[in-house]
Amino acid sequence: MDKFIIKGGRKLMGEVEISGAKNAAVAILPAVILADEPCVIENVPNISDVSISLRILYEMGAQVDMLNETTYRIDPRGILNCCVPYESARQMRASYYFLGALLGKYHRARVSMPGGCPLGDRPIDQHLKAFTALGAKCTIDHGMVDVTADRLRGSQIYLDVVSVGATMNAILAAVRAEGLTVIENAAKEPHIVDLANFLNSMGADIMGAGTDVIKIRGVGHLHSTTYAVIPDQIEAGTFMIAAAATKGDVLIKNVTPKHLEPITNKLEKIGVNIEEFDDSVRVWVDGPLVKTSIQTMPHPGFPTDMQPQITTLLCLAEGTSIVKEGVWEQRFRYVDELRRMGADISVDGKVAVIEGTGKLMGAPVKACDLRAGAALIIAGLAATGVTEIEDIYHIERGYACMEQKLQKLGADIVKKSFPGVSVKKAM
Ligand code: EPZ
Repeated sequence: MDKFIIKGGRKLMGEVEISGAKNAAVAILPAVILADEPCVIENVPNISDVSISLRILYEMGAQVDMLNETTYRIDPRGILNCCVPYESARQMRASYYFLGALLGKYHRARVSMPGGCPLGDRPIDQHLKAFTALGAKCTIDHGMVDVTADRLRGSQIYLDVVSVGATMNAILAAVRAEGLTVIENAAKEPHIVDLANFLNSMGADIMGAGTDVIKIRGVGHLHSTTYAVIPDQIEAGTFMIAAAATKGDVLIKNVTPKHLEPITNKLEKIGVNIEEFDDSVRVWVDGPLVKTSIQTMPHPGFPTDMQPQITTLLCLAEGTSIVKEGVWEQRFRYVDELRRMGADISVDGKVAVIEGTGKLMGAPVKACDLRAGAALIIAGLAATGVTEIEDIYHIERGYACMEQKLQKLGADIVKKSFPGVSVKKAM
């Protein structure tokens, strides 16, 4: 079992380089299946969700070559098997993108029901609604999702809820379908635009990604491409908050400042200074942090994936703040762990009330999901004394080289392995 041990109280100072976006990479890697030729994907983050995606591609028969630490050449022509087994699929939510990609290319897919962070009910009805609209037959039996189609025909798809995954899966399934597909009430996150840009660079015809109506004209062939994944907006936001929580001064490089705007706006309200450059942002604090109210929403609202981190920052601010979770049913499970560190937070359903005490104390805590883990790291960096974080495999799903990046900024954080205890859980 690995733990992070953090001695808090050091200001983060210096520069940090942000990696490629997890939630873009985990869609783009399966999307390579749709190509008729090899593709080179650059700026791929070194995280365990990516390793699992690459392993699934390899197990299905694709040739996967690592060209350097962040670049992979993937040749999908050897794929013979349209089944993603339970063992691989259960380890991450994004395994559902193999459904859309395999259906789009081979008109059939069999994927185990996906795993993912425990954030409450995580249905896939809108994914299946999109596949059905395109002419597929979908069944769920003994935990496996089967989708098959004789032909895929472009269609009108109205999503009943704004869903990142269903929007991406609808795009994947429609990109080689016959005729025009229109996705209405589509999600608008930067990773959706990135997936569309990637597919268009292979010859797809997708318009409107980044708005709530996406039009896809099906094409018969997708050629090779070389494509770089966008920077990770949530990793960047996490480092922005870590800099603010420790009252540090950090230049966060390799970011798209436009993607960070929902986060930047809220941090400025809390009293954090932010200066934007072309592909970097400087974050520093030279005055008091103050209360605010936040409601998470689909993009361009404040991202749910930043909610635990900003709640932690609000514990260090003056006054009473309110945070409403607008996407997931259960995204305050980490609050119990923050309370162990002295946080004064009460939760009622999807609303948290935070009494800013201005300080946190080190304690032994457990990461219950990916962003909860990031929040505990921020808390540990800002706290007095030592924080030990267990179950850091959650954090490693989505943050590349987290402890090394923090060490470079002056943090006292080490990863320690405690042999003899092995934790392997579905995520
Ligand atoms: C993606 O999950 C991200 N995961 C999540 O990031 C992120 O929290 C979420 O989008 C929202 O931004 C990946 O990209 C791999 P949704 P996804 O479909 O696609 C409901 C992280 O920390 N819904 O947009 O699974 C659903 O219950 C992770 O990086 C349906 O009702 O999220 C939720 O309330 C955690 N039916 C809402 O929509 C469906 O068929 C949004 O979910 C699908 C979703």
